[in-house]
Amino acid sequence: MTDHLTVVNHPLVQHKLTLMRDKDTSTNSFRQLLREISLLLAYEITRELEMTTRTIQTPLCEMEAPILEGKKLALVSILRAGNGLLDGVLELIPAARVGFVGLYRDPETLQPVEYYCKLPNELENRLTIVVDPMLATGNSSVAAIDLIKAKGAKNIRFLCLLAAPEGVARMREAHPDVPIVTASLDEKLNDQAYIVPGLGDAGDRMFGTK
Ligand code: URA
Repeated sequence: MTDHLTVVNHPLVQHKLTLMRDKDTSTNSFRQLLREISLLLAYEITRELEMTTRTIQTPLCEMEAPILEGKKLALVSILRAGNGLLDGVLELIPAARVGFVGLYRDPETLQPVEYYCKLPNELENRLTIVVDPMLATGNSSVAAIDLIKAKGAKNIRFLCLLAAPEGVARMREAHPDVPIVTASLDEKLNDQAYIVPGLGDAGDRMFGTK
């Protein structure tokens, strides 16, 4: 991917996103829509995967048929909201290896601190797709990608549902080599770091917590 930011303007993505933003959408519907939209976003983020060919025999003849090249890709979910996106992406790429990164915000320094990290091996040889629905301040995404790079990953993409301009700028500064794919670049962050217009707390909405 060459662009740092790709907004997926496909009508189905935009329609589903509108339903997800609506505060009256139930947890059940929100989760179902998230699964559907993550399939469409995963389709977009994997559009330029490297290909090779394999010789196969169809019922009619031999052919050189296209097939994905390289090691199985890695998906890394930033806990906990990343797991909502992960399910749909895994449905499209069932052979992917999966990792998890958990970060909390230190109440004193306000900086993200790692509390969990389990990643697939040989990240240096895999395309790594990091998933987190909301790119807000960008602090946790930048910290998670710092960690993933420290474990060897070199070819990383970031998949989110909504992005705030502040988060995109932070990512561009810290990780200009990591392309971002999102369903929408929203207007701004509010003073509590929620994305506006946004959809509220993605974790609460997908897991029914509050
Ligand atoms: N995280 C969320 O869940 N929602 C926001 O709007 C920002 C960060």
